[in-house]
Amino acid sequence: MSGRIPQTFIDDLLARTDIVDLIDQRVKLKKAGKNYQACCPFHNEKSPSFTVSPDKQFYHCFGCGASGTVLGFLMEYDGLEFLDAIDELASLHSLEVPREGPGGSAPSSQQQAAAKAQRQNLYAQLGEISRFYQAQLRHSQAAINYLKGRGLSGEVVKRFNIGFVPDQWDSVKRQFAKDSHAEKQLIEGGMLIKADGGRVYDRFRDRIMFPIHDRRGRVIGFGGRVLGDGMPKYLNSPETPIFHKGRELYGLYEVRQTHRNPERVVVVEGYMDVVALAQFNIDYVVASLGTATTPEQLQLLFRTTREVICCYDGDRAGREAAWRALDNALPLLQDGRSLKFVFLPDGEDPDSLVRARGASGFSELLDNAQDFGDFLFERLAHDAMEGDAGQHELANQAAAAISRVPEGFTREGLITQLSRQLNWGENERRVRELFSRLQTSAPTAAPAISSSKKIKLTPIRRAIALVLQYPAVAATLDTQDVQEVAALPLPGIELLRQLLTQVQQQPDLTTAQLLEQWRGDKMANALTRLAMADNLFAGTQIAQELRDIFAVLIEEYLAKRIAMLQQKSQQGSLTAIEKQELMLLLSESKSSHH
Ligand code: UTP
Ligand code: MN
Repeated sequence: MSGRIPQTFIDDLLARTDIVDLIDQRVKLKKAGKNYQACCPFHNEKSPSFTVSPDKQFYHCFGCGASGTVLGFLMEYDGLEFLDAIDELASLHSLEVPREGPGGSAPSSQQQAAAKAQRQNLYAQLGEISRFYQAQLRHSQAAINYLKGRGLSGEVVKRFNIGFVPDQWDSVKRQFAKDSHAEKQLIEGGMLIKADGGRVYDRFRDRIMFPIHDRRGRVIGFGGRVLGDGMPKYLNSPETPIFHKGRELYGLYEVRQTHRNPERVVVVEGYMDVVALAQFNIDYVVASLGTATTPEQLQLLFRTTREVICCYDGDRAGREAAWRALDNALPLLQDGRSLKFVFLPDGEDPDSLVRARGASGFSELLDNAQDFGDFLFERLAHDAMEGDAGQHELANQAAAAISRVPEGFTREGLITQLSRQLNWGENERRVRELFSRLQTSAPTAAPAISSSKKIKLTPIRRAIALVLQYPAVAATLDTQDVQEVAALPLPGIELLRQLLTQVQQQPDLTTAQLLEQWRGDKMANALTRLAMADNLFAGTQIAQELRDIFAVLIEEYLAKRIAMLQQKSQQGSLTAIEKQELMLLLSESKSSHH
């Protein structure tokens, strides 16, 4: 699946979608002046500070700073990746997502259409197979007995669409591999295996089948458990065009079916743990599919919730897994997010624990989970050598870890915690010095809550904000005025120039469409903040305001240039050309004042 999605297609999608409609279907909006309002879905609040602007096609929360376009909203609210959000919008309008070929050449549309059709087909096939497995379960007393024996109710089995595949080499093959094309696809999708000799047979036989859903609820793979003590205990779908283990979480779709914004999400290891906990109404649990918790999985989790609690065995392997998860999570731990760990007693897993202690007993474990900072320092202290050398090593390692956490209160707290941990407690300054030395180039994500209310607005920033917020007006500016100001060697001018070029080339872009063209750019965050800066403008004479700012910029530049040339002239080091320039500038600035 290669090739960029053409920007024109993204523009088109945004043009066809009304952000007010789309958000209103998820969060009831009330009209307030020319905007719409609601209580913010991204943080807890009693009075509405979440605002949707139909003009800008843009949402913004004055409480928590969340903001973005309809694509951004789908990503945050529905927990979708960018490409999935595009897919979602496209299917809303029954459009195919086109792809540019490598190097921006025309899409090799046939191949792409074929690949896409094949993926679609695979989703459909796996969905049907999942239903087939569920039907098989109803016919197998042995499988039903096994699940009952594990203490599962019919209700929870249904909720997770658990099924059964009988002890045959060809139950899927017989039902679904109707022709060679279907067979090939089932092999690619991991459901059938082709032996070296060419014989084709079912991968899963005589197992309880757990379907794995993606965030949109499509079946993308399975985990299958033997009924008894056979080996391997669990067999999983291999990597396929639609199933990538490290990017999915078992049960996440089911969690989101019940909770749009769960207060916390628990990560466990096993399928059975997720299902057993759900039966005890602890229905905000996912499984990491037998891998270490990957950065992609953590990113997904923090799209869904603010608090992630990872549950691991208390043994060495469990603590190693937790350490790796912590390492992956550090760059994601901006303010407002929390990561905690629960280490289970020896020989227990969440399934056995919740059965032994009940829902309240298990919740208590969650409530007492260890904060990641405590886990971090505990582990570093444990590994450190005795004496001063050990303290230094500890300080260095901790500082390296802390510098990967985004700037904010969380990071400040960790620095304080480090100084307390070291026996330099009397001297937090020493820790801060060490820390700032280490903090050479570590880039960090922007803090979750932007201080949007306090943007300092220089003339350039004001101009950029105006262009972003009133693209149609900016498009009407005289090109000569634009070129003149765009030629000034001032910081920020290049950004302004690019934006002006964009709106002049596409005069009917909305704020949202304009912003989407900057997705992924390092300026994107700054632009988003400027797009929602408000109460800055007289309101009616936008074009005049822009022209005034341009005039100010030009004057500022000329004044600076004159000052510089005059200084040089006093030092007697003006070249002939500079002398001419100075005379010209002086006469121009005189005439512009008249
Ligand atoms: P466990 O061995 O801890 O199993 O594996 P469990 O979840 O407690 O299962 P029950 O209670 O015996 O039924 C934890 C997870 O590791 C993966 C599976 O995702 C499993 O849920 N695993 C385990 C495999 O993929 N293959 C295996 O052979 C074993
Ligand atoms: Mn178990």
